[in-house]
Amino acid sequence: MCGIFGYVTSKDEVLGPILIEAARRLTYRGYDSVGAATISGSRIDLRKDVGKVDEVAAKYNFAEMRGSRGIAQLRWATFGEPSQVNAQPHLDSDGDLVGAHNGNVVNNAELREQFIAEGLTVRSQNDGETCVHAVERYLNRGYEFIDAIRLAYGDLEGDYAFVIGRIDDDKLYAFKKGSGMVVGIGEGFTCVSSDLPSILPLTRQVIRPQDGEIVTLWADRVEIRSVKDGKVINRQPETVTESMDAVQKGGYAHFMLKEIHEQAQAARELLHVLNGNREVDGLVAKMKKARQLYFIGCGTSYHAASAGAVYFAQLAGRAVIPILAPQFIAQYAPAVNHDDVGLFVSQSGETKDVLNALEAAEARGMACFGLANVVGSTLTKATSFCLPLCCGYEISVPATKTFTNQVITFLYLAYKMAGKDVRALDGIPDLIEKTLEMTAPQVEALATEINDWNDLYCLGYGVTYPIALEGALKLKEVTYAHCEGMLSTEFKHGPLSAVSKGFPILFVAAPNDVPLIISGINEVKVRGARTIVIAEEDARLRANADEVILLPKSDPQIVSLLGVLPLQLLSYHMAVLRGYDPDFPRNLSKTLTVD
Ligand code: M6R
Repeated sequence: MCGIFGYVTSKDEVLGPILIEAARRLTYRGYDSVGAATISGSRIDLRKDVGKVDEVAAKYNFAEMRGSRGIAQLRWATFGEPSQVNAQPHLDSDGDLVGAHNGNVVNNAELREQFIAEGLTVRSQNDGETCVHAVERYLNRGYEFIDAIRLAYGDLEGDYAFVIGRIDDDKLYAFKKGSGMVVGIGEGFTCVSSDLPSILPLTRQVIRPQDGEIVTLWADRVEIRSVKDGKVINRQPETVTESMDAVQKGGYAHFMLKEIHEQAQAARELLHVLNGNREVDGLVAKMKKARQLYFIGCGTSYHAASAGAVYFAQLAGRAVIPILAPQFIAQYAPAVNHDDVGLFVSQSGETKDVLNALEAAEARGMACFGLANVVGSTLTKATSFCLPLCCGYEISVPATKTFTNQVITFLYLAYKMAGKDVRALDGIPDLIEKTLEMTAPQVEALATEINDWNDLYCLGYGVTYPIALEGALKLKEVTYAHCEGMLSTEFKHGPLSAVSKGFPILFVAAPNDVPLIISGINEVKVRGARTIVIAEEDARLRANADEVILLPKSDPQIVSLLGVLPLQLLSYHMAVLRGYDPDFPRNLSKTLTVD
């Protein structure tokens, strides 16, 4: 969802390669346009267009761009179609300022009208340009740069991070509201970015600015001031120790495949952290006392929340309402109060739909907790306590390892709610490894066999229902095929009419639900469907399904969770067979910071 990068050095030099590399490291966020600007003395060199980083950089020869300051931006279209004029960075009316943002300025339309009425030159529909004019308008009125930014900050509504520079200066300025932003301090340079991957190859000394702070970047230092009173805020840099391997493919063809194979290790780390986290028991105590429990998320995170709700019911006899975040606002927020507890689930911790739901819940006094992967994200800061998912970076747009760790976290919490011994879960990482080993060759072959189908179904029941939903989401996300996830018992209530000869239907079966799944299998099989069931060894399934993808033996809750792994692999292989890049599916963005 858009990404910005700014770089300041002490002398004029070739900055193009640094900007291109930084842009490449932001691509996982999703984008449709690319731009770069350098400032050299009183000249701004701005190049941008719709397309991939390497295409646009080559077409406009970004590599030759020189200056003492540079800005790169990847844009994922919200305000204004993907086009060269809407691509970022943007200039002010006279071409003295250049800036770029990520996120969403929600009063973009109103501000554009004001700027036009004030005689400013507005060239695009894009809200990044609005940020530039918001500063320009106050400079035109005679304010100093920092004061112009302070006033602009008050005018710009929404969630965004913004970087801006001007000619005949030696600095860049950055500020944020809602969105993430990281500042890096290196030897002879400073930089600022939407997030860490574009900074880590350059420096490990970082500062994380907060909302309401303005950062001024010189080549050899940064200064943070409060928007409120303009006073300097002292903040020492922290040293980031995370490995850069996490943001590289590590020998795999795609991040998605790498991340699928990282799941065992991620699960190990998660269980280790959960076992050592004293706050877990406090959270469980609060959930036990809650009048009503809500698990809230979007997309994959919602599926994990739904699996969690089944675990809570099955293991702890505790009813939970799993709900998509925007629907929570409409359906439950008006009725919640301080006796209720909400667990907000998100890989990124920046999903706007989730943050909106959090705001609605907090306004009603509900006790709000989080479950997020990106440490330091808005969700981790906005909730009273947020459990980490411990997955490291998940670069590929389709969520895989974060889903698995979300589900494991819910299973862990359900065990705690039930007073069961969580050591029973210690075997999960090995079972994940075993499942991938056992299923990979068969799933790759299956991908080839069913790849011509553009309609598929994934069916499950109980915990395997959200697992089927998640499998279907993965399949449609990366193969662009129509794939529906459904409660197996619902299939006869309509979709059955879609079945034709060879029509592939995937079932995920937990041991307890085998008889019910067998009914489902036979209903579609007699009508010509090709039935593939993912389950642990069971003679009854072998006797009824066309094919069994075998999972290792475990308890019913864990087996259900393992069922997602072959579906992730199937999605990956089908996407590759179709010639699609599973890491960056068309039209999608990893982090959805818009409504
Ligand atoms: O970062 P979040 O978990 O809040 O993101 C929510 C969804 O956008 C996300 O899970 C999406 O559905 C995945 N990319 C699917 O793989």
